[in-house]
Amino acid sequence: MIVEERVLGHIAKAQTEDVSPFYIYDTQAIRKKCDDFSSIPYRNKSIHFATMANINPEFLAIVKDANLNVFVNSLKHLESVKEGGFKGPEIVFTSSAMSENVMKSVFDENVQVNLDSVGQLELWQKLFPEKAVGIRCNIGGMVKPYSTRAGFFLGKESRLGLTVDEIKGIANKHIIKGLHLYIGTDIFDIDYFIGCYRALIELSHDFPELEYLNFGGGFGVSEQGDEFFDIKTYGEKVSALMEEVSLKRGNSIQMILEPGRIIGGESGYFVCQVTDIKERENQVFVGVNASTAQFTRPLIYPESANHPVVIIRNGALLEAENQVNTTIYGCSTYSRDIFCKGKQLPRLSIGDLVIFANSGSYCASSYCEFLGFDKPKEVFI
Ligand SMILES: Cc1ncc(COP(=O)(O)O)c(C=O)c1O
Repeated sequence: MIVEERVLGHIAKAQTEDVSPFYIYDTQAIRKKCDDFSSIPYRNKSIHFATMANINPEFLAIVKDANLNVFVNSLKHLESVKEGGFKGPEIVFTSSAMSENVMKSVFDENVQVNLDSVGQLELWQKLFPEKAVGIRCNIGGMVKPYSTRAGFFLGKESRLGLTVDEIKGIANKHIIKGLHLYIGTDIFDIDYFIGCYRALIELSHDFPELEYLNFGGGFGVSEQGDEFFDIKTYGEKVSALMEEVSLKRGNSIQMILEPGRIIGGESGYFVCQVTDIKERENQVFVGVNASTAQFTRPLIYPESANHPVVIIRNGALLEAENQVNTTIYGCSTYSRDIFCKGKQLPRLSIGDLVIFANSGSYCASSYCEFLGFDKPKEVFI
């Protein structure tokens, strides 16, 4: 079942003549993902939810209650997580091209900082001499990088992090207390994660004062809703790796993870209502009372974003029979305001509720004002 029974019941009850678009989240399912990460056997670890995936205060409260920490990449999100009760090293701040003012602000908050370039490291050392810090590493030269949905995060084509040569060339290696890595997004191949981590570990031998290895996020959520990232197997493999590193160094190195999409991706749904239907040759265009400016993954990734669709009619699930080639479009004049193209769906009617699954991450948080639609309400059940 792509939509949890409990969630379906709640949405079905909500069906009235006119339903404004909204997000609905399954709190228990979010909590379960947090617990799955906390259950990774390696003890000296800290799991930091990547808040760009969802910055809603209620979402942050679930994450906090599950004893996860947070990772942010901007001062605005830093403020949001502080309001949510996170402080100091519970917050990882990793960004790029930080100005002096941003550096001073994060320094004052005593958060864990990872710097993105040689220039940023020089600026940091000038502002805060001898203050230990982490660096973001582009280990592309040591592995065969994957191109993930958002392109390359490693290798020559990535703008992020210090290259292997730059890392080796750092003069004051003793001020580096952590190495940070982010290998890409929506990856299911556990061996790729581990291979990249091994490359980072190889680099870490040059850093005598190392306290942590931050392996970032990137854990896959499937577009079809038919594949699930195996956190248990991943946890066993990464734990064995960390035990090996700590043993070799003779001291316990902290492992940091920054899961984003996986924490709430499968636990959130976007709901809108059919408001118009156009019959065309070999396909049906279905208009809804929402815009992709309110549900942006199809806008950002028109070629690859794909959210399983479930329909509710008169309070009940619509059977997937007599399917037709359907394109669901938003209620604006923007030609690319398209939720999905050429999906096989039952013939829809005005008033039907359309539920887009796998919408708990990078959806509500990337709402934009372009086109002039309201930020949808977010409901947690
Ligand atoms: C540095 C860093 N860590 C973690 C994440 C979260 O990634 P994901 O949602 O793929 O797990 C991101 C997302 O862009 C990131 O840039």
